[in-house]
Amino acid sequence: MALIEVRNLVKHFPVRGGVLNRVVRKVHAVSDVTFEIKSGEILGIVGESGCGKSTLGKALIRLHDVTSGQIIYEGDDISRMSHRELMPYRRKMQIIFQDPYSSLNPRLTIRALLKEAIKFHGVLDDDPQSIDDYIVELIKTVGLRADAADRFPHEFSGGQRQRIGIARALSVKPTFIVADEPVSALDVSVQAQVLNLMSNLKEQFGLTMLFISHDLKVVEHFCDRVLVMYLGHVVEELDTMNLDAQVEHPYTKALLGANPIDDPDDRRPLTVLKGDVPSPFDPPPGCPFAGRCPLVQDRCKCEMPPLAPSAADGHMVACWEIETTNAATPPVTAPARA
Ligand SMILES: Nc1ncnc2c1ncn2[C@@H]1O[C@H](COP(=O)(O)OP(=O)(O)O)[C@@H](O)[C@H]1O
Ligand SMILES: [Mg+2]
Repeated sequence: MALIEVRNLVKHFPVRGGVLNRVVRKVHAVSDVTFEIKSGEILGIVGESGCGKSTLGKALIRLHDVTSGQIIYEGDDISRMSHRELMPYRRKMQIIFQDPYSSLNPRLTIRALLKEAIKFHGVLDDDPQSIDDYIVELIKTVGLRADAADRFPHEFSGGQRQRIGIARALSVKPTFIVADEPVSALDVSVQAQVLNLMSNLKEQFGLTMLFISHDLKVVEHFCDRVLVMYLGHVVEELDTMNLDAQVEHPYTKALLGANPIDDPDDRRPLTVLKGDVPSPFDPPPGCPFAGRCPLVQDRCKCEMPPLAPSAADGHMVACWEIETTNAATPPVTAPARA
């Protein structure tokens, strides 16, 4: 069953300028995105820096207003709810950020910052002893020692701070967690430990997750299914099982061939791809990947291919070449007719 359904979601950021401070142009951060997240699954979003992953993740839990489209959470359309109407949903939908240090108040001890979240959302009755017990239990759940409660965020390593970020998200008993590049800033050796923790907690608490990453290899190991984004569009959606053999979109293939980037500050372009990513201010009418695509045809430059089912079950791809190939030749898996 779908926990969240996203229909035709669009998010533009207006950019103001000039003496009258008028809207002079818009960043097309997320363009007409449709998908669902099943209860209990980990859905990945992958794509290069700036393609709209964080915007989509934040819009989904209404940390951004949406420009158009719908977000249906457990059957309720939350896309246009006011701040007050959103309150009951805020607790259920939590987010973990890439850089836990900037999202943890440096002046609060771990105990104080967890207490703040617990009290704000009224998770427990206002009994100091039971709140304290709950905090110690949470800290142990994320693999830290109980004495961490009375220390400050700067006293911890990056991996430990991400554990604290996870504890804070868990503290309010959420159903759904957006993890926005949660391990991208960590050393490779620490990444695996934090991913293991998240995977265990997901099972233990029956969570549903949206996991954002620029690294398709991490997504492949951690997620059940993945959406591949390019300049605000989802260009492919597929299961992560047997990913290498399943991938169809030329952009996803390029991502698979790309060298993993160990250093998050090193925003190298993918070496296998030539050509520029179009501007998000003035996206082209056709496929946004056309300028870098090895399969490009004339049609790709003027008409955006829709995300459509490909040969494999549950697999969706937005590419004129793959669609036309499928239309011309029946898929090999189709039963032979006598
Ligand atoms: N608050 C904002 N105001 C204006 N533009 C934004 C804002 N946040 C993101 N953008 C722009 O939207 C696009 C998508 O950004 P983002 O969602 O952060 O991408 P990603 O997470 O994939 O790196 C980028 O062009 C970025 O510059
Ligand atoms: Mg981001």
